[in-house]
Amino acid sequence: MSYLSHLECASGGARFPADRLQNNCCDGGDILEARYDMERLRREVRREDIARGPSSLWRYAPLLPANHPEDAVTLGEGWTPLLSAPALSRELGLRHLFIKDEGRNPSGTFKDRGASVAMTRLRELGAPTVIHNSSGNAGAAWALYAARAGITCVNLLAEDVLGPSLQQSSLAGARTYVVHAPWQQSGAMVAEAAERHGWFNVGTLREPYRLEGKKTMGYEICEQLGWETPDVVFYPTGGALGAIAIFKAFRELKALGWIRSDSNPRLVVVQYEGCAPIVRAFRDGKDDVETWENLDILPGGLKSPTPPGGRAILGILRETGGAAITVSSKESLDAVQELARLEGVFACPEGAATLAGLKKALDDGLVGRDERIVLLNTGSGLKSIANMGKPAAHVARSAEDIAGPDETA
Ligand SMILES: Cc1ncc(COP(=O)(O)O)c(C=O)c1O
Repeated sequence: MSYLSHLECASGGARFPADRLQNNCCDGGDILEARYDMERLRREVRREDIARGPSSLWRYAPLLPANHPEDAVTLGEGWTPLLSAPALSRELGLRHLFIKDEGRNPSGTFKDRGASVAMTRLRELGAPTVIHNSSGNAGAAWALYAARAGITCVNLLAEDVLGPSLQQSSLAGARTYVVHAPWQQSGAMVAEAAERHGWFNVGTLREPYRLEGKKTMGYEICEQLGWETPDVVFYPTGGALGAIAIFKAFRELKALGWIRSDSNPRLVVVQYEGCAPIVRAFRDGKDDVETWENLDILPGGLKSPTPPGGRAILGILRETGGAAITVSSKESLDAVQELARLEGVFACPEGAATLAGLKKALDDGLVGRDERIVLLNTGSGLKSIANMGKPAAHVARSAEDIAGPDETA
């Protein structure tokens, strides 16, 4: 049984029934949000019940839109660890630094959360074929969950899509296209194909349920901190859905009385210098983002020149007193190595960008050394091997070539 009550346009307030397929009511970044019967939830569900649920995001089933969570399209996604980071903490002089490691998800990124929950709900609502555009990781996740759900998925992937995502999409049987056109056009191509063939457009923020899956990152962070919020969340931001979702989770947990109502976690958006439309708009005091024209960016998840959630994320940045920071590709790749060497966490460059951003935020006095800080590592480094250059290794032809403890290898 679901406590889902209706869908609501987050800015305009227009309401829609939740028992049929529904795309966004208007273009231009207005978000269609799932709303729940909070009164009844408060009466009937306690946070202690959650702890008895499965070790996946489906432990939050009462706060998710599925009528039949027992039939969820699931591969065991979510409930990823919130790791302490003792070596980095020592190096940076921090007291409470955590890494939420989304690399443990089935396809290797946090995108599995949105795919699991949205596929579950869309199958309940009888969705036909689904179509969307993706720089790679979402396409991979949706292909795998569509296969699990028995739904056809059409993926329009970026020209520079990385090998693992392309393989996941194609091996899972999604109809996989690589877009040979400026990436800015791919959303319009999806909309036109959806219209022409009667498919359901599941692009970022085109439907309400992907957000519902991703918000579970926010629930988990709070539950793992003993039902408290962190002080600061660093998020590697592309389309902005992940960060919007985490802050929706915080709002919902406050409304339920499961976390303190006066807690006010801040968001720090981290983007690459070569695609930073949100950082630019925030610094310029704008209410909306403008398209970033000259993309110069590592292939992967931060390729979003016109972030669908741009307006909403600027609102969250201002409401929470947050910050927006750019890092270079090199800083991000250096941070991949630092996370691996110091903490044993093999992060994707997008996730590692949050560590590079944290260092800048510390230099600029944007975060305090006593604050409780969470870095979102949004995916596994295994998804991005091609970005990481040639690995350092020595040649061994016999045991004599192997350096002893006092020799330099
Ligand atoms: C690994 C990774 N990190 C971060 C992002 C950005 O997430 P969002 O688009 O929700 O801002 C993406 C999106 O593709 C991604 O694949």
